[in-house]
Amino acid sequence: MGIKITDKVTWVGKIDWELKHFHGNEYSVRRGSSYNSYLIRDKKNVLIDTVWSPYDKEFVSKLKNEIDLKDIDYVIVNHSEPDHSGALSELLREIPDVPVYCTANGAKMLKGQYHQDWNFITVKTGDTLEIGESTLTFIEAPMLHWPDSMFTYMSGDNILFSNDAFGQHYATESLYNDKTDQCELEAEAIKYYANILTPFSKLVTKKINEVLSFNLPLDMICTSHGVIWREKPEQIVLKYLQWADDYQEKQITVIYDTMWNATRKMAEAIAEGIKSAAPDYTVKLLNSSVEDKNDIITEIFKSRGILLGAPTVNNACLHSIGGLLEMVYGLKFRKKYAAAFGSYGWSGESVGLISEGLKKAGFKLVSEGLKYMWVPDEEGIKACYDFGADFANQIK
Ligand code: FEO
Repeated sequence: MGIKITDKVTWVGKIDWELKHFHGNEYSVRRGSSYNSYLIRDKKNVLIDTVWSPYDKEFVSKLKNEIDLKDIDYVIVNHSEPDHSGALSELLREIPDVPVYCTANGAKMLKGQYHQDWNFITVKTGDTLEIGESTLTFIEAPMLHWPDSMFTYMSGDNILFSNDAFGQHYATESLYNDKTDQCELEAEAIKYYANILTPFSKLVTKKINEVLSFNLPLDMICTSHGVIWREKPEQIVLKYLQWADDYQEKQITVIYDTMWNATRKMAEAIAEGIKSAAPDYTVKLLNSSVEDKNDIITEIFKSRGILLGAPTVNNACLHSIGGLLEMVYGLKFRKKYAAAFGSYGWSGESVGLISEGLKKAGFKLVSEGLKYMWVPDEEGIKACYDFGADFANQIK
């Protein structure tokens, strides 16, 4: 089961080819995922992280093929979220006294989830653990992305065990970044950053700069999901610095929902107006009721500006746009422009509500928005086209 990564380190995780949703239904998974766990054999034997609980028995049983559990000297929990701590109960039932290294927050969170008083050893940034030829150094990374998150650095092999950071929900037998489809890998890495790490971007920059200041030699980044960054591991670090710096491309995205196609017609005319005013920009049009919500978030992440549209229904807007506003509020995008639009029959509240939501979520509103009564006629289409062109002119 294990895959030898270096003379001392073996991957002992689980590839989950069937996973379709993560964090409940909050994150769509298109290409599976993995829960990466690592076994280090030096004078002391160390297990770093485990797997999600549906695979706990399988994990422990296969781990026994690698090592007599009694020979594991230390367990390190870089992060207590169940996708990594889910097999601890099964494992520690067999070796209850083994020291479990984690942050102070990690110990609290593990107790809160599993109600077990395991042999916790809490660590802080700079604390070390001598395991023979190698030394493990702990680096706290609070809010990247939970308060308990930490990295573990292994000297000698020069590996950063980064847990969620630099990961992707991406199942691949080939394990290493240089052996996988680069387009798929990039798509999954940016989706992961956009949907999970965006709110913590300032902390990402700070933590990466702190780690870089240690001048640690880096041969590999062993994440807890997806590939191991073996070829040019610094490439994903540089990407993270770029993504954390209020990332945007020359892209404007028009996102809408529609009942009888009036708002769709508005969206299409707006997109044409944008294209005429900003021909060097990528313009994307997405119907939020049928597109994957996490893909939409990734497109928003890449955009300099977005236009959000929905008709008015029951004095409100359609639920797919309402849900998206809730998501962008939590993700705390910065330095992005926005405007609202939508058709209506009589009361017409949707544009005001969407504008309010965008403002609350931190977008810079370019205008009060555009609402159109019933179905836009030729004049209405022209108004939408001009609205799109004006938006592009103001933000490009
Ligand atoms: Fe992969 Fe935050 O758990």
